[in-house]
Amino acid sequence: MKIKYDVKKIKDIKADAVASVAFEDMAGQKLHWLNTLFKGNLDTLIETNDFKGKAATSILSYLGPDNRSKRLFIMGLGNSKEITLESLRKTYATAAKKIHALKMSTVGFEVPDLALIKSITNASHYEIMQAICEGVFLTQYSPKKYYSKNDFTPFNEVIFFTDSPKYTREATDALKDSKVICDAVIVARELENEPSNFLTPDRFAEYVKKSSIKAGYQVTVFDEKKIAQLNMGGVLNVGKGSINPPRFLILQYFGANKSDKPVVLVGKGVTFDSGGISIKPSAGMDQMKMDMGGAAAVVGAFEAVARLKYRMNLIGLIPAVENMPDANAYKPGDVIKSYSGTSIEIDNTDAEGRLVLADALDYAANYKPRAVIDICTLTGAAVVCFGHLLAGLMGNDKELSKKIYDAGQKTYERVWELPLYEEYDKLMKSEVADIKNAGPARQAGTIMGGIFLKKFVQDKYPWAHLDIAGVAFGLAESTEEYHTIGATGYGVRLFTELLRQYSH
Ligand code: BES
Ligand code: MG
Ligand code: ZN
Repeated sequence: MKIKYDVKKIKDIKADAVASVAFEDMAGQKLHWLNTLFKGNLDTLIETNDFKGKAATSILSYLGPDNRSKRLFIMGLGNSKEITLESLRKTYATAAKKIHALKMSTVGFEVPDLALIKSITNASHYEIMQAICEGVFLTQYSPKKYYSKNDFTPFNEVIFFTDSPKYTREATDALKDSKVICDAVIVARELENEPSNFLTPDRFAEYVKKSSIKAGYQVTVFDEKKIAQLNMGGVLNVGKGSINPPRFLILQYFGANKSDKPVVLVGKGVTFDSGGISIKPSAGMDQMKMDMGGAAAVVGAFEAVARLKYRMNLIGLIPAVENMPDANAYKPGDVIKSYSGTSIEIDNTDAEGRLVLADALDYAANYKPRAVIDICTLTGAAVVCFGHLLAGLMGNDKELSKKIYDAGQKTYERVWELPLYEEYDKLMKSEVADIKNAGPARQAGTIMGGIFLKKFVQDKYPWAHLDIAGVAFGLAESTEEYHTIGATGYGVRLFTELLRQYSH
């Protein structure tokens, strides 16, 4: 997909379709202006009053034969006083999907008055343009790669145009950067949607190796022997029940002085979660191919951070395993030991994510990190609690949590904090080990996940935990706006926004 920013009048854009924008409170004016420009082509539209400029609506008109573009879309931006970055994303995405459905290959999108939007949203020109671009780019993906006739092709060329030269520099920067970020989101979606017979832990590692060379970061992969040698008991035991052995991936990006303390991202990479011996019911089990959504978000964040050349150091830790019930599988009642030697009683083999994360969080301390953030599809309870709207945020550091919250508001990959009160600790107590891996059923399931992980973090570093079980693919049923079927790629935009603040 080619992308371009053009300071041009709408009449001068040559494309299969051009899309203009109108605020609801100024829709009449804009239609008349366009109608004059296009010599009465919009007479009927104006007469019928079919277009009112409501947010995320659009209407198609055909233009006369002497025009450079034959199709004119007009997108509604809603009331100018109520505009938000998210309403922009939704408006552009809705229009982009409609235009794409008509099989247009070159398309021009008008950029609205950025100064006006800035005065209402307080966002920078760069951020406003970024939201607009996200709206368009995030629609250009489909998970149909296994169709024997996959007829999905993204737009060939997207032109963002405006007749004002005022914001060219910020807008072109935003355009370039958001293409990189959206490509990274799509990488994450692609990984998540990949069936587990194709994406085993080993293939995941191979994919990341290839990605790292192209994007500009490094990867080290520990195989099952190395994992055993290092006593990573969580990864080792969860992986035992599968014929596809586990891997432990270390991603490294150095964009600053080597002595700068890194931020560490930890991603749950369960390529398939059957539940193991505590096997899951069959309904919905197919979705568990996406139980590596956290790991996918980490890979996406690396792709973006490395390509945008952030001036910071970043480490990614991904325990990749398949959780299966086989003769050699770990069992309820087993006692295992994490990398740091903490003993864990297995109460439920379906609480596997926290076991592999325990090793990774233990391992993270080796980097003396300035912050560690884990991201994981950890608990079904997060879906019960938040539906498909929010990720659960927990942690031990107010400042870090606040930063994540703010990045979530900006990107609309939103989070909500849950408490890790000490009183919860006793629910995870074991009679035979330092901790057990599941609390009592139906009690604060998402918090229990956080309480378990806290045991491995303690106060060794500032830490935040994101439970994305509801948002990684919860929107699977919804193909609205800038989401596509299946995975969302949640976390990539959130991390890219957050980590920007660590870049100096
Ligand atoms: N991968 C699941 C969590 C999950 C459920 C993610 C639904 C997305 C949608 C996780 O490994 C799991 O099975 N968690 C258990 C924990 C319980 C046994 C303590 C759960 O939530 O039931
Ligand atoms: Mg599980
Ligand atoms: Zn799981």
